[in-house]
Amino acid sequence: MAKIDGVCREVCDATEYVTIVTNGPEGPHLAGHWGSYMRIVEPGEVVVFPVGRFQRTEQNLRANGRIQLMVASRKVQGTRSPGQGCVIDGTGEIVAAGEHVDLVREKFPWARGALVVRVGSVSTQL
Ligand SMILES: Cc1cc2nc3c(=O)[nH]c(=O)nc-3n(C[C@H](O)[C@H](O)[C@H](O)COP(=O)(O)O)c2cc1C
Repeated sequence: MAKIDGVCREVCDATEYVTIVTNGPEGPHLAGHWGSYMRIVEPGEVVVFPVGRFQRTEQNLRANGRIQLMVASRKVQGTRSPGQGCVIDGTGEIVAAGEHVDLVREKFPWARGALVVRVGSVSTQL
């Protein structure tokens, strides 16, 4: 497992939204979430989101657990200019009970469950 730290953690803290990509029978499937709803579980190897809908994402993850997240912000310095983006690659599942659901329901009591992403690798784009 890899860890979200350094510049990628800064980007996660600043990103307005998160792009979520899973693999479905017809190819890549896109969903999204608000950056401020994403919670990094210390020490940074797991990320969780509250889940309301995400029905296709859930189906896709049951068949193929690979998931990719993209976060970005102009407020974080890139290597050449202001702005950095990160891709977080890992495995995901949507769970309906347990510690991660308890965690997301602290702030989002409406959540039917939690999207739990185990971080496999993190890379910067800019
Ligand atoms: C910026 C943004 C924020 C979103 N916030 C939520 C949210 O708080 N809760 C939720 O269930 N879906 C949220 N969604 C919608 C999910 O991405 C949506 O459930 C998804 O498009 C449909 O899921 P599915 O295609 O996997 O069935 C958000 C989408 C975007 C683009």
